[in-house]
Amino acid sequence: MNDAMFTLRAARESDRALIDAYAYSEGMDHLPSLERVTVAANGQDEPVGFIRIALNSQGVAHINPVVVYREWRGYGVGRALVEDAEAHYGELRLVSRGSSKPFYDALGYEECGWDMIEPGVSDDCDGCELRAECGPCPMRKPAAAKERS
Ligand SMILES: CC(C)(COP(=O)(O)OP(=O)(O)OC[C@H]1O[C@@H](n2cnc3c(N)ncnc32)[C@H](O)[C@@H]1OP(=O)(O)O)[C@@H](O)C(=O)NCCC(=O)NCCS
Repeated sequence: MNDAMFTLRAARESDRALIDAYAYSEGMDHLPSLERVTVAANGQDEPVGFIRIALNSQGVAHINPVVVYREWRGYGVGRALVEDAEAHYGELRLVSRGSSKPFYDALGYEECGWDMIEPGVSDDCDGCELRAECGPCPMRKPAAAKERS
């Protein structure tokens, strides 16, 4: 499998069922809308992963969330979705699950303070009964790291 086996495009309403299924399978809520949602589509134009960007009132972009269908993990889909969002929105911030932190480490992200995370994004963790197990970590990609990657 290589990059040519998926392409990125804006999400459409017809993608909803798969997007919601991928989110649900990760214990995530369904998306409030398809605004700023990009999918990676396979050769049949079906989504195999998606990223949603949330913008706060200052225009700071947060990944919320990125999910790749299990059978497509490890083939560069997640990296392609995040790098495409970086090209459109500049600095991205996010709350990583402990299990996905190695992915963000590989992309040059660094831990940051919770105060840098939009409340609407960090709220997802507040009061979550799986918080200790999940090990959420606030992260961002500083400009210097962006130039190095
Ligand atoms: C995290 C996730 C999006 C990664 O997607 P992916 O398509 O498998 O990632 P990629 O293949 O693009 O990997 C990009 C880099 O991260 C590294 N990486 C990805 N997952 C990793 C892991 N679990 N451990 C170590 N490295 C990892 C890859 O080795 C790769 O490094 P390289 O480009 O230097 O070779 C995917 O595993 C997923 O959907 N997880 C469940 C949902 C989730 O936790 N989302 C993040 C919370 S918002």
